[in-house]
Amino acid sequence: MTGDTPAAPVEAVTCTGLGYAFGDNRAVDGLDLAVHQGEVFGLLGPNGAGKTTAIRCVTTLLPVPAGTVRVFGRDAARERMAVRRLLGYVPQQLSADSGLTGRENVALFARVFDVPRRERAARVGRALSAVGLTDAADRLAGTYSGGMIRRLELAQALVSAPRLLILDEPTIGLDPIARTDVWEHINAVRAATGMTVLVTTHYMDEADQYCDRVALMHRGRVRALGTPAELRRGLAEREGADFLPTLEDVFRDVAGSGLDDHSGGGFRDVRSTRRTARRVG
Ligand SMILES: Nc1ncnc2c1ncn2[C@@H]1O[C@H](COP(=O)(O)OP(=O)(O)O)[C@@H](O)[C@H]1O
Ligand SMILES: [Mg+2]
Repeated sequence: MTGDTPAAPVEAVTCTGLGYAFGDNRAVDGLDLAVHQGEVFGLLGPNGAGKTTAIRCVTTLLPVPAGTVRVFGRDAARERMAVRRLLGYVPQQLSADSGLTGRENVALFARVFDVPRRERAARVGRALSAVGLTDAADRLAGTYSGGMIRRLELAQALVSAPRLLILDEPTIGLDPIARTDVWEHINAVRAATGMTVLVTTHYMDEADQYCDRVALMHRGRVRALGTPAELRRGLAEREGADFLPTLEDVFRDVAGSGLDDHSGGGFRDVRSTRRTARRVG
């Protein structure tokens, strides 16, 4: 150690002016984002906001046609393999093979991600244990419940010991107990390893509870950023409200009338999310 001021730690993810269009549809439209090392960062927004597209650019599954994306300082456009080795990814679409056992599914990822042969069996076993699937490991994934499948996919993403775990709507469609379960396993791994987590969700209640910081995304751009508490307090102060607003109220405020149309999801999705949240909460 010297007396010099230590350099600021490199960010886990930075997106600068990220743009991605499908034809005329600018799905991601000048996205600026920084995810700090070790935090759980939530990318929130209604269906069609551009969350999945942005995430895919970070994972290098999509190119970066405009702007820059860095993962622990590595350029996602120019150092794709280096970036891929740093991250684990659970896509929005289910990706486990129902004709294989849980253990075989995870072993497949261990091979694909180059986990050294001699370590594979032990690493696969640890990943399954980390998500609470040891007892079910040798059953076909086709017999698993929705929550178990999600946890299996988590094990697949964890087996390469990623520094950054990226989860796209990890709890969509799960019952409340299974949702809590998925989050508790994520948090346990994070506590043990210091892994950074970047997660997308349109469940605002969940983000409020589990994310250190959130970005509210709407029409391809970040419209508000902060800790859930900061965002809720900020709205309360601006409105002089005598109650603490929910994160969803903040989102409604930020997106304004822009949510009240039908282009790529919007107000109706948010409203139904709220109904769901009320029903389950
Ligand atoms: N493969 C695709 N082809 C054409 N348009 C797409 C494709 N994927 C997404 N889009 C469009 O891009 C926009 C953003 O979608 P997406 O990134 O999936 O949003 P989110 O994950 O927030 O729901 C939407 O308008 C969607 O219809
Ligand atoms: Mg999506």
